[in-house]
Amino acid sequence: MLSTKMEKGLNDQMVAETYSAYLYWSMAAYLHDQDYPGMGHWMECQAKEELSHAAKLFAYITERGSKACMGAIDAPQSDWDSPLHVMDSVLDHERKVTGMINDLVNIAMDERDHATHQFLAWFVTEQVEEESTVSSILSRMKKMGDYVQGLIMLDNELGARVPLYDIIPKK
Ligand code: FEO
Repeated sequence: MLSTKMEKGLNDQMVAETYSAYLYWSMAAYLHDQDYPGMGHWMECQAKEELSHAAKLFAYITERGSKACMGAIDAPQSDWDSPLHVMDSVLDHERKVTGMINDLVNIAMDERDHATHQFLAWFVTEQVEEESTVSSILSRMKKMGDYVQGLIMLDNELGARVPLYDIIPKK
């Protein structure tokens, strides 16, 4: 059984991961609207992954005999200045999420909850990967500056991302 504090922390994280999906869908909508279909697709893939993170937390909370609670999800920002601004915001957001995961790990350590500590290790690794991927895209975008051809090439490249999880079954 999870402690009350651990249970609340994991439930809050489940809501935060769902909010991440909502935020990335909002970014995807902006990018599609600005005629960057590849980046829009990449961001949709990102949103689907976030939902899978929320689902992982749901399953773990339930498996430990606690009740998953669906908290309110805020409406995300819907407009940005440019694709670069979007990617910069993603990195900011992921760094915040990393901080939240680290806080959860600290609770698990304080409470000697070894099972939750082990469960959270996956998220720790995932955050390293997410921050690294986004940092690298952002750094390339910064180098491109106003070079439109470069942005179009990057859009094509990001459009080739294969989603790890597909929510809507293909016909
Ligand atoms: Fe689930 Fe991108 O953090």
